[in-house]
Order: sequence, then C-alpha cells, then structure tokens
Amino acid sequence: MRVGDGQAGLRVISVTSGKGGVGKTSVVANLALALTRMGNRVLILDADLGLGNVDVLLGLNPRYTIQHVFSGEKKLQEIIINVPAGFHLLPAASGIQELTDLSQSQRMFLLDEFDALQKFFDILLIDTGAGISSNVMYFNFAAMEKVVVITNEPASLTDAYAVIKILSKKYKQKKFMVLVNAAKTKSEANGIYKHLCLVVDRFLGSLSLDYLGWIPYDEHVPKAVRQQQPVVDLYPLSKASKGFMEVAERLMARQENLDFEGDIKFFWQRLLSH
Ligand SMILES: Nc1ncnc2c1ncn2[C@@H]1O[C@H](COP(=O)(O)OP(=O)(O)O)[C@@H](O)[C@H]1O
Ligand SMILES: [Mg+2]
Repeated sequence: MRVGDGQAGLRVISVTSGKGGVGKTSVVANLALALTRMGNRVLILDADLGLGNVDVLLGLNPRYTIQHVFSGEKKLQEIIINVPAGFHLLPAASGIQELTDLSQSQRMFLLDEFDALQKFFDILLIDTGAGISSNVMYFNFAAMEKVVVITNEPASLTDAYAVIKILSKKYKQKKFMVLVNAAKTKSEANGIYKHLCLVVDRFLGSLSLDYLGWIPYDEHVPKAVRQQQPVVDLYPLSKASKGFMEVAERLMARQENLDFEGDIKFFWQRLLSH
C-alpha cells in the first residue's frame, strides 16, 4: 500500500541538524527524488534561512515565496514550483520569520490554504536549517517525524545532541531518526550513530533514536551540486545515490508502523499556534 491511497495520512518529515554543512539540503533534495521514484507525491518545504537553499541546489529561481502569500498577492498553490525531476517545492525561507509571527486572522487564512494542499501530496519534507533557533525548533516540533543528520565531525555530534536535548526537554519530543552522512564505511557510520546514542542515553534518558541508515562520502554529491541537479538523477549508479535509494526505502518501510497523530492540518496548527 502506498501513502496517499486514502489509507494513511500525509507524512510530515523534518530534516534537521545541529551544525550546518552536514548535507541536510542534499539529503532533502535527493530523498525527495528517491521517494518520488517510489511513487510518492512529494512536496519540499524550504524553511532554511541560510545559504545554499534547495532552490539553488536544484537550479531553480523562484519568483514568488511564501511572503507573497502573506501579502495577499498570491495563493499558496500558485507559489509551489513543479521541479522537473517530478516533485514540488514550496519556497518559504524568506518568509520563515513571518510564518511564526502571524496575526490570528493570517493564521486562520494560512491554515485553510495549507489544508487544501493535503490531498495533493503524500509526503512533506522540510529542510529546517541548522541549529537551535526557535524557527528550527518549531518546525521540528510540528513535524511528526524528525530526521537528524550527523557526520563524523565532533561538532556535528555535539550540536546534534544540543538539538535533541532542546526538542526533548522543552518541546517534549521523544522520537527521532538519525541519518549519518558522508561516512567512509558502513562501520564508521554505525560507530557515529552509536556514539550519539550513548551520549543521549547517558544525559537525556530514554529517547528513541532510530537508525535510518547512512550515505557514503562521495565526490559525485558536490559534482552534482555544481551542476544543480540531484545526484540521484545525475549519477544514479554512484555510491551516494544507492545510499539515498536505500534510505528512502527504509523510510517507506517505517510507514506501516506509524501512528499518525494527525494530518497536515495538525502540523500547521502546531506550527502556527506555538
Ligand atoms: N555524502 C556526501 N559526500 C560528499 N559531499 C557531500 C555529501 N553530502 C553533502 N556533501 C557536500 O557538503 C556540502 C554541504 O551540503 P549541504 O547539503 O548544503 O549541507 P547543509 O544543508 O546541511 O548545510 C555540499 O557542498 C555538498 O555537496
Ligand atoms: Mg542547507
């Protein structure tokens, strides 16, 4: 069974990290494509205020962003970009600050608009940006599934720990998925994951950290970035592409055990009424 058959709700998955530059945006763009290939209708929400956003990575040039929705110039559906690879992008980065700082009537309007989107997509993937700013936290809080991306750099681990700590203590979130990016070998990736588990276990108590797998370090990734295309599209046989396909399969396999807390309306309500 596929998500979107009417049997299950829309999955809202945030992709986050403590430290920037660990490959979050690459993960979002390539998982979007891998999940599309598996028959899902995928929408990316670019909620990262930083540089190197999804649109840049994919060679897109959005004319409108969510700011035009706030100002009433555009409807939400009108700003969504059809990416040639088959998925969709909602450019939100430049309006993120406003998104968490809206009047009651703006909120109601947006909730209705977002609600109307629900029937068009199976998976909403959010590039949250890095760090522990309140915007990043809100998106992770609101998403039903959270993927924390880590690498072998010590700062990536300590910063991921800081994100998990705040989400668990302040926002009462107990379940996370962990994706190791740019590891040299499978056993190195396992080691990095275990290290994070150990630290979390020791200092934060019993949280659930599911291992979503790993993406190998692969020069094809920056090469594809320079050509502004997902590596899965450009170099489908590369190690990284195979990794992305496997991770997408693991994400889909998890779906059967999901306990849907609500639908996309729940997500936006949570986000907009923090
Ligand atoms: N698996 C990988 N192997 C090699 N380089 C990678 C890999 N993943 C990401 N990169 C490179 O790391 C840089 C940062 O990636 P990016 O996705 O922009 O990170 P973030 O969104 O976390 O800041 C990019 O130049 C990208 O090409
Ligand atoms: Mg990024």
